[in-house]
Amino acid sequence: MNELNFENTSVFVAGGSSGINLAIAEAFAARGARLFLISRSEERVDAAVAGLRERGGEARGCAADVRDPAALEAAYLQATEWFGEIDVLISGAAGNFLAGALEMSCNAFKTVIDIDLLGTFNVLRCGHAFLRKPGASVLNISAPQAFNPTRYQVHACAAKAGVDMVTRVLAMEWGGHGIRINSLVPGPIGDTEGIRRLAPNEAALARMRETVPLRRLGSLAEVANMAMTLCSPLAGFVTGAVLTVDGGSSLQGGRDLKPE
Ligand code: HXC
Ligand code: NAP
Repeated sequence: MNELNFENTSVFVAGGSSGINLAIAEAFAARGARLFLISRSEERVDAAVAGLRERGGEARGCAADVRDPAALEAAYLQATEWFGEIDVLISGAAGNFLAGALEMSCNAFKTVIDIDLLGTFNVLRCGHAFLRKPGASVLNISAPQAFNPTRYQVHACAAKAGVDMVTRVLAMEWGGHGIRINSLVPGPIGDTEGIRRLAPNEAALARMRETVPLRRLGSLAEVANMAMTLCSPLAGFVTGAVLTVDGGSSLQGGRDLKPE
């Protein structure tokens, strides 16, 4: 792996069939990496893999739910039989919806914790055996909810705060294996499912833009550029970091996301 040239680099993306995680996969593929994508829907994985290949990338994938360690294990075996040890592991599977605590069942809260937090632990725990040691880089995709208490987001706030702690603790435990682990925290990013869910109309979008010091939503490319940099030798001494790519929006603290 050489700076932002990712030839001979194997990248595994959990939750890679759409949005921010797929944009990160596309950016790596465009610079020569081999990509393996997983998400729950085989159809969506197949479509994402086909898109990467159409642009000249080397990609494969399979369906796997991050809540299911056995499915993850099978996916890692399939990936590493194809492309060898994993150089870059992106963990970004997540679920979200706007709901106050009294509007969500106990199972609704648990579902988001299971996908975002337990899923992240599963992806890293099951992935460890398949990571290049020394040399691998792991990137957890977090969210501003991890440190901004946000109404209607108790599930995501609790889950992503946990994700950032997984980042910090495993950076300490696995540093001796030559593995770096960081969290990337996108702010509101345009053209994503997350924003369609959390700012579902123009008024909500306008309010969201006002919370960003740069007064706009971020782009998929802006997140992907930071992801590539953090996972490259340019960031070789960076581990356990929680890095925002958010136009400064986290400087404004928590906020009310309810559309009306
Ligand atoms: C209240 C809800 C709900 C809602 C679902 N539930 N939607 N409760 N309000 N809007 C409840 C259900 O009733 C059920 O509880 C429980 O949640 C589980 O629902 P399922 O549909 O069975 O779960 P599952 O099939 O596992 O789907 C998970 C999901 C779904 C999170 C609910 O929306 C999903 O698959 N999302 C993936 C895509 C996504 O969310 N992308 C955005 C990520 S953005 P009961 O009690 O009835 O069983 C992000 C951060 C963005 O993470 C940050 C921007 C700044
Ligand atoms: P997205 O397109 O919905 O991406 C979520 C991905 O995770 C999808 O590929 C989905 O595919 C997969 N997934 C969901 N549940 C899964 C499970 N149980 N097992 C395996 N894969 C699963 O949403 P996005 O907005 O781009 O968000 C991507 C990441 O960025 C998330 O971690 C999110 O928290 C973070 N983020 C987003 C924003 C934003 O502005 N959008 C801001 C901050 C942080 P399947 O449906 O096929 O499973």
